[in-house]
Amino acid sequence: MNDTEQSGDTVIANDWHPVAIAADLRPGSMQAVPLLDMSLVLWRDTAGEVHAWQDRCPHRGMKLSMGMLNGDTLTCPYHGWAFGTTGRCKHIPALPELREQHLKAQARVFSAKEAFGLVWVCTGTPAQDVLAFPEFHDERLRKVWCGPYDVASSAPRIVENFLDMAHFAFVHEGILGDRDRTAIRDYTVNRFDDAVYGSGIWARQCFAWQPRSNALADRGSDVEYTYRVIRPFTAILTKEPAAQQGFREAISLHLQPVTETSTRVWIILAMTNDESSVDEMRNFQDTIFLQDKPIVENQQPLKLPLSPQAEVSVACDRMSLAYRSYLRELGVQYGVIR
Ligand code: FES
Ligand SMILES: [Fe+2]
Repeated sequence: MNDTEQSGDTVIANDWHPVAIAADLRPGSMQAVPLLDMSLVLWRDTAGEVHAWQDRCPHRGMKLSMGMLNGDTLTCPYHGWAFGTTGRCKHIPALPELREQHLKAQARVFSAKEAFGLVWVCTGTPAQDVLAFPEFHDERLRKVWCGPYDVASSAPRIVENFLDMAHFAFVHEGILGDRDRTAIRDYTVNRFDDAVYGSGIWARQCFAWQPRSNALADRGSDVEYTYRVIRPFTAILTKEPAAQQGFREAISLHLQPVTETSTRVWIILAMTNDESSVDEMRNFQDTIFLQDKPIVENQQPLKLPLSPQAEVSVACDRMSLAYRSYLRELGVQYGVIR
């Protein structure tokens, strides 16, 4: 049992979580990944299908990811038990006479799928598709994968920080904010349910004056953001590109909850910028994110308190309060204090 099962957090257990870059998992290769207090082994079979199993041999608990993958057979390094694509044991070297149909051992198998260039895993029963991210499918936008960043904090603290504008002047001074312009203008927060964008909460008309809003900017500008939260651990920020072409570019945040207070962070950019190199775009995102990391790692408590009385909030914290209500209503327990 992992903590989502112990806490009865079916919302998080039944959701999809990013665990790897899909292209890194080539046919015949394995990767050990952490998710929801468990170790998983990811592997890709010869037909190109991705598999996600608990990284634990049902015989004596050895990590299967330290074994061998030959074609579509994963062999445990300890006693050589061999497992096929369904996770069923098909050969025990110490009992070579035993026929496959008499073998009962079964690796624990989870749902895995590929979307947006990442591999996603659900350790429970998938309650919906991975997520709605229409900007990703916009061919005018260039996709760049940033991170992953390992952060010693809860996923909800990281989402909340992503939605917060009042820290720009302090944490990202000279890039996303300026200490002479710290006031946050009014913005709107609404629930939404949309065929294209999914459902959740969004904040619109979020204005910030930014000295250097992206990797290409060489002067300050007034930027208008929209933030939307569409899953407990997914948030997407959009803004109109500088040329104002009637569509929006996006920075999407996808969190891999490792434990309740440690998280792997994936960011996908869908941007108009076709001048900067991939490295320049990643470096810009690394700079911003590495400024946020010590903040979210030093908030007390690391889990997000959902009670409105637990921390003092002001008017411009409306989006963060809406996010806390959203988690409360969904019944999320993982990484929060209810
Ligand atoms: S522990 Fe895996 S075969 Fe024994
Ligand atoms: Fe930040």
